[in-house]
Amino acid sequence: MNGKPKVLVTARLHEDAMNSLRNLAEVTTLARQLAASKSTLLEIIHDFKGVIIGSLEPFDKEVIYAGDKLRVISRHGVGYNNVDVKAATQKKIYVTITPVLSETVADLTLGLIISVARRIPQAHKYVNEGKWGVETGFFTGTDIYGKTLGIIGLGRIGSAVAKRAKGFAMTILYYDLIRNLEMEKQLGLKYVSLESLLSQADIVTIHVPLTDKTMRLVGERELKRMKPTAYLINTSRGPTVDESALYTAIKDGWIAGAGLDVFSEEPINPKNPLLSLKNIIYTPHIASATQECRYKMSMMSVENTIRVLKRKKPLHYVTS
Ligand code: DGY
Repeated sequence: MNGKPKVLVTARLHEDAMNSLRNLAEVTTLARQLAASKSTLLEIIHDFKGVIIGSLEPFDKEVIYAGDKLRVISRHGVGYNNVDVKAATQKKIYVTITPVLSETVADLTLGLIISVARRIPQAHKYVNEGKWGVETGFFTGTDIYGKTLGIIGLGRIGSAVAKRAKGFAMTILYYDLIRNLEMEKQLGLKYVSLESLLSQADIVTIHVPLTDKTMRLVGERELKRMKPTAYLINTSRGPTVDESALYTAIKDGWIAGAGLDVFSEEPINPKNPLLSLKNIIYTPHIASATQECRYKMSMMSVENTIRVLKRKKPLHYVTS
């Protein structure tokens, strides 16, 4: 038996990160699907001093309190809505994050905006099915250049999206709890109320963390305020949008369509009615999934863990 601290890894980490973790800890890996089950976590958690997890593993109060030896819950990512930070803080367990993914998530956000407005995935499928041409009219999309973008949440990711949108000569509106005068000056952004953002924007994009206050932030009332020609983009967390209202909004033409990387239930239920709509495109929560970004996330999630195990402050952590 060796005396190394035990660390459970349920996120998919780069081999370099795994190797540096193994130098210091006895590492157990568990597939994310299994770790998404609370009963599995409850059975095994008491053994571990550290965990490195994805966005689905439910680290609620019960699981955290069952982790007698737990010193660090290291999120391989920035969203921590699956961790009860208050319970962790009470137990003096660090909850760490990896804020190195903003540019990568912003890239995918722009990808979704262009894809939904120009119907790129649907056009790809069309050609793949042996068809050709713009005769359906459906493939006559809408311009992005020069349009109005509404950013809900001007944090790290929202700001990275704003910088990109400048290249498309967009008018950029934003809504946040906190005004960012520096970004307003630097990029010419306009701070507006949520209501006026929704009614003016051609594209509305959500970049808020999931909290009690942002749960279903965009519901029926908000969708009805949007232009019938507008698109909704979500790369934050699924539950920030009321999915059944979104379904009706697209089906009944309150808005023109949506581009989604996140859903209220993940993995998505194949029977989710959103999947049956034509004017919607979706990806399986891959906004941070590039080689470069996942490498940085892997290294930082391990670095955060190692630091705590060595009784040092982690690089990035959150408290309640
Ligand atoms: C995040 O960082 O929270 C992303 O959604 C990946 O988990």
